[in-house]
Amino acid sequence: MEPVMTDRLTTLWQQRYRTAPPPELAETPAAQTDIFDSLLTHRSVRAYLPDTLPEGTIEAAVAAAQSAPSSSNLQAWSVVALRDPGRRARFSELCGNQAHIAQAPVFLVWLADLSRLERVASASGQGHEALDYTELTLLAAIDTALAAQNAVATLEAAGLGTVYIGGLRNHPEEVARELGLPARCIGVFGLCVGYPDPSRPASVKPRLPQPVVLHHEHYGVADEASLIALHDARDGDFQKEQGLPPRLWSETMAARIATRAALHGRDTILSSLRALGFPMK
Ligand SMILES: Cc1cc2nc3c(=O)[nH]c(=O)nc-3n(C[C@H](O)[C@H](O)[C@H](O)COP(=O)(O)O)c2cc1C
Repeated sequence: MEPVMTDRLTTLWQQRYRTAPPPELAETPAAQTDIFDSLLTHRSVRAYLPDTLPEGTIEAAVAAAQSAPSSSNLQAWSVVALRDPGRRARFSELCGNQAHIAQAPVFLVWLADLSRLERVASASGQGHEALDYTELTLLAAIDTALAAQNAVATLEAAGLGTVYIGGLRNHPEEVARELGLPARCIGVFGLCVGYPDPSRPASVKPRLPQPVVLHHEHYGVADEASLIALHDARDGDFQKEQGLPPRLWSETMAARIATRAALHGRDTILSSLRALGFPMK
C-alpha cells in the first residue's frame, strides 16, 4: 500500500516551500519526528507578552546549547542573560532601537569567547598563540551559532518565541563595555526570548526552493534564475498575505549587499574584533 501523506506533513511543507511535499516524505522517518515539526514551524517573533519565563527555562536552554557539538570540544562561547528592564532598554538602543528587546522578558547575549581558553592555557603553563589566528575566531563564531540554535529549538518546542538580533554587532565595543567582557570575547548576536503575543502572531516565511540550496556531488543548479524568480513570486504572495508592502525578495536581498553603506556601520567589524582582542592573523 502507498504510504499516506498526513495533513500535518503537507501543511508543514506547504508553509515552508509553498508547494506540495515530495511523496517520499510520507515514509521518511526523519520527517515523522516532533523536532522536524517544531523546526519547520519556526518563525521569528517580534511581539511578546510581558509574562516572565518559568523558573529554569534559561538553564534548560543553555543545557541544550551546551549539548551542541563543539569544535575539538573547545566550547569557545559564553552567554549573558539580561532580565533587568533597564538593561534590556539599553540594549534595545544599542542594537538599533529594536523594541522587541525591551519587550521580551529575557535577552540573551551570545558571545564568541576565546578568553576562557587563554586562561586555561595560562593555568596549564602553556602558550596560546593559536588564539591569535582567524581560524580560532571563525571556530568560536561557529560554536556560538550552533549552541544558540540548539537553545532556540528547545525554546520553540516549548511554545516560546525567539528572534536573533544581529544588531548586537552595530556597536561591539559598547556591548563589550556594558557587559564587562574580557579581551578575546565579543558579542556575535542577541536573542529575545518570551511568550509570543497571540494578538500579533508571526507566520512561517517561505524559503528558497530546495534545489537552489541542495546540490548533489557537485555544486551547480541548472535553472537557478527561474527558481529564484519562483521564490520571488511565493515571497510576494507571503508579503501580500501579511499586509506587507510588495517587494521582490531578490531585489531586497541585492540591495542589502549593494553598498558598503548597506552594512549600517558594520563595515568596521574587523577593527572592532582587533580592538576586542581578536588579532585575526
Ligand atoms: C544571526 C541573525 C541575526 C538576525 N538579526 C535580526 C535583527 O537584528 N532583528 C530582527 O528583527 N531579526 C533578525 N534576525 C531574524 C531574521 O530576520 C529572520 O530569521 C529572517 O527574516 C527569516 O525569518 P524567520 O526567522 O521568521 O523564518 C536575525 C536572524 C539571524 C539568524
